[in-house]
Amino acid sequence: MTVSQTLIDNHSRTVEYLRVSITDLCNFRCVYCRPPEGVKLVTHEQILRYEEILSVIGVARDMGIRKIRVTGGEPLVRRGVVEFISALSHMEGIEDVGLTTNGALLASMAEDLQLAGLKRVNVSLDSLRPDVFAAITRNGKLEEVTAGIEKALEVGFDPVKINVVLLEGMNEEDVPAFARLTSERPIDVRFIERMPFGTPSVPDSPHPFGADKVLRMITREVGELIRLERKPLDGPATMFSLAGAKGRIGIIDPVTGHFCATCNRMRLTARGTLRPCLLSPAEIDVKSALRNGASKAELAEIIRAAVFAKPVGRAIHRTVIHDGMNMIGG
Ligand code: 5AD
Ligand code: SF4
Repeated sequence: MTVSQTLIDNHSRTVEYLRVSITDLCNFRCVYCRPPEGVKLVTHEQILRYEEILSVIGVARDMGIRKIRVTGGEPLVRRGVVEFISALSHMEGIEDVGLTTNGALLASMAEDLQLAGLKRVNVSLDSLRPDVFAAITRNGKLEEVTAGIEKALEVGFDPVKINVVLLEGMNEEDVPAFARLTSERPIDVRFIERMPFGTPSVPDSPHPFGADKVLRMITREVGELIRLERKPLDGPATMFSLAGAKGRIGIIDPVTGHFCATCNRMRLTARGTLRPCLLSPAEIDVKSALRNGASKAELAEIIRAAVFAKPVGRAIHRTVIHDGMNMIGG
C-alpha cells in the first residue's frame, strides 16, 4: 500500500519539514538550555536506533516530508552520525538535509559530512567574545567553533548560518560584531529571541531582549538594513542585509512576533516521540509502535495524528515551557 499524500494540518499549513533529534547529549551546557550539573542521562535503549529513525523518516517521506534537519542535543557527538547523514541524503524523495550543530566538532567532521551528502549547516553561536562564549556554554572554546565555521565555508556548505540566541545582559554587545560578520563573509546570521524554557540560570525577564532592539542596534551602530524577500529555505526568519554585504541578517521572533502562522515543521525526538509544536509539551509516542512491529500504515496514522495535533498561535510570552531545548533540538 502506498500512503503518498500531502500532510496538511488543521490550520491549512503543509507540513514538509521534519526536525530529527538524534541525541539529548551535548558537549556544551549552555546556561539557557541546561542546568549546571548537566541533564539526566538516558539509557541506550531509550534512544531510537538509526534504523528506527530512518523508518519513521521513510514513512514521513511517503506522506510528503521533503526536508530533514538533524539536531540534538549536539548531533555530532552521536557515533555513526556521518553514516546516518549519508543514508538520509541518499533517500529518494528527501530533497534537503541540513544539520544544526554547536560547531565544536565541525572542523574535524565537516569534510566527511559534506562527502556524506550534507548540504547546509546551522551553527549555534551566541557570542564572538571568548570569555562571554565560555560563560554562556559553561565550557566551550570559541576558537573551536570559529574553526568549524571556517571549515564549513571551505568545504562549500551553502548556506552557512549562525544562530544567535538573544540573551539579555550577556550578548547585547555582540550584535554589531555579528552584523558586521555578514558584510565580510557569506554567512547568514540569525538572531533568535530566547524562548522561556524555564531554565533557572537565566531567569525569564519581563523585558526580554527582542527583535526590535536588535534591529535598532544594527541600524544605529552598523548601517542601514535592507529588507529582503523571504526565500523558501528561510523558515520563520525575516531577512535583511547590509548594503554590499556577502551574507544576510535574519530575525526570528517567536516571543514578540507571529511565527506560528508559517510553521511547517514537526519534530522527532531522540526518545522516539513526535512533537507537533516546539511550544507545547504534547508528544506522541512512536517508539512503542516501532518496537511492536507496527506496519507502515500504522506508523503513517501516528504521524498524521501528530500533524493534526499541531496547534496555532500559542501565546509564548504567557507560556513557560518546562522541557529544555536539549530534548527537542530547537
Ligand atoms: N530559545 C531560542 N532558541 C534556543 N535554542 C536553544 N534554546 C533556545 C531558547 N530557549 C537554539 C539553539 C540552536 C537551536 C537549535 O535552538 O541555540 O541554535
Ligand atoms: Fe548544547 Fe545547543 Fe543546548 Fe548549548 S543550546 S547546551 S550547544 S544543545
